[in-house]
Amino acid sequence: MESHTLVLIPGPTPVVDEIREGLARPVLAHTDPRFVEVFRCVISRVRQLMGAREAYVVAGTGTLAMEMALVNTVAPGERVLVVSHGYFGDRFVPLAQAFGIEVDVLRTEWGRRVPVEEIGAQLGRRSYRAVTITHVDTSTGVVADIAALGPVIRGAGALFILDGVCATGGIDEDMEKFGVDVLLTGSQKALGVPPGLALVGFGPRALEARARMGRVPAYYCDIANWRPVMEEPSRYFATPAVNMVFAMDVALDIIFREGLDRRYERHLAYGRGMRAALRALGLEPLPVEQAAAPTTTTVLYGDGLDDVTFRRLMAARGITVAGALGPLAGRAFRVGHMGNVTVAELEGAVQAMADTLAEMGRPADGAAARRALQEAAGPYADFRADRC
Ligand SMILES: Cc1ncc(COP(=O)(O)O)c(C=O)c1O
Repeated sequence: MESHTLVLIPGPTPVVDEIREGLARPVLAHTDPRFVEVFRCVISRVRQLMGAREAYVVAGTGTLAMEMALVNTVAPGERVLVVSHGYFGDRFVPLAQAFGIEVDVLRTEWGRRVPVEEIGAQLGRRSYRAVTITHVDTSTGVVADIAALGPVIRGAGALFILDGVCATGGIDEDMEKFGVDVLLTGSQKALGVPPGLALVGFGPRALEARARMGRVPAYYCDIANWRPVMEEPSRYFATPAVNMVFAMDVALDIIFREGLDRRYERHLAYGRGMRAALRALGLEPLPVEQAAAPTTTTVLYGDGLDDVTFRRLMAARGITVAGALGPLAGRAFRVGHMGNVTVAELEGAVQAMADTLAEMGRPADGAAARRALQEAAGPYADFRADRC
């Protein structure tokens, strides 16, 4: 089915032709040396992107990556501190409980960060095997301050588990630099690949923890079963998602051609630009500005706008934005601005928002909003994956 819909939800993100062509390549046997070489190169570049000691690339989604991160570092009966900035932060609670892991949670009002001092104080009160943090909580668009958190978590002797599902490839989260022990992510967001791959990086402290654990209550998720494959991809444990690996290979080409620093700066500029454009339209981003994510924005409607109508009229203009989750459902929408999306595409979305607002009886200045976006995008205004 042909579709000209621009998917601007916070993942999956638009997939450029070059990456789609990776998916469309003839299937090879997972033992074929041509595939094995691509897989080897993907694993090595994921390790480089993450700053990991070991990287695991397996068929699955972000939730599987969360599970893999947790079960390989925290044993049943041990305790984790979950720091939650929304729906996906909260997901660590039932996940940990499913494996008999004890959980304490620190939460805050949606749109704000849990203060680092509060996390430090909790770590002083009790001993934890690990702390889980969602780098960008996709429900709220809040970005965690991982530079401040690393020393606090490490200082308390806990492992730092970072959920990068809505960040990896769009925000710097180099594990060595930030003191992250496990970084987990999925393929479908800032990496610009369709959903289907779970990626997990482990640092030395996390690997020591895994070695001390002996057996873990998992099979597919047990990194001990995958390690021989990640070290030598011609080996078999479970069939790799061959064409997803081809697509990831192209995505990594794009990412490294663009350059990590440039890519992270571009996302910061996109975030600033989208928030400026939304304000010019009379809409308010949910997060306080210093906690606003570069990759996605949750936008409050204010009074008098019906969520379902707004998103239906946006869809009629060829733009899919997402509804809000949990307590914000019906009161906000979410727009993604990550991966290989261009400023021209974001401008089209902003104009569609202006036209939709006008149609709903709330006139908005689309030209001013597009100008605000352009100005913030600055040197990144011409980004195109195929020109990197
Ligand atoms: C921050 C975050 N963590 C975890 C997940 C779960 O990933 P998946 O839906 O791929 O299982 C998501 C999904 O959107 C997410 O945004």
